[in-house]
Amino acid sequence: MTTFVLATANPHKTEEMRAVLKDLGIELLARPAHVAEVPENEVTLEGNALLKARALVDATGHAAIADDTGLFVDALGGRPGVFSARYAGEHASYDDNVAKLLAELIDVEDARRGAVFRTVVCVAYPSGESLWVEGDLPGRIARERRGDFGFGYDPVFVPSDADGRTLAELTPEEKNANSHRARALRALVEALGTSS
Ligand code: IMP
Repeated sequence: MTTFVLATANPHKTEEMRAVLKDLGIELLARPAHVAEVPENEVTLEGNALLKARALVDATGHAAIADDTGLFVDALGGRPGVFSARYAGEHASYDDNVAKLLAELIDVEDARRGAVFRTVVCVAYPSGESLWVEGDLPGRIARERRGDFGFGYDPVFVPSDADGRTLAELTPEEKNANSHRARALRALVEALGTSS
């Protein structure tokens, strides 16, 4: 069994990562409470994921796993992208961010509301080595919030390959079967399988 310390303290992400990895032979150890929050001040998802994973390796001496996710909206030239957590301000809530997104897109017609969720997962080792994998989920931004599951931008993101429901209208099992995060984690299992 491969074991990684999990860099995230976000309970939604933790639950999704555990749910996807539990059947794939990877065990996640909880982030120790004494490790300070790492400022995500890189300008790429890869850079932020590495920062977070490396901080946990340094704190625990154990291989660590981190994810960083962004929502890239076509009509906004790829914004908010790597700044998705702070889109509506430094301490913005999920709801603040969604409200700002809907307001910015208010005059954008349906055909131009394309977007992609991208997750980069980084594994860092005490040896100094690290690896990244990526998962993309194409879709579009809805005109209003729908659904109560999930977190973040889920209520306004409609995956292209689903049936018109937002991610927040999918059950956790449905989201985890095919989300950007699940795709990145499956790519990780494949990369670990072929590199060991
Ligand atoms: P980070 O990876 O924690 O930096 O996430 C960046 C932003 O994207 C945060 O505002 C999250 O709420 C949002 N986000 C991350 N993953 C998801 C997801 O799976 N669904 C919806 N929003 C997400």
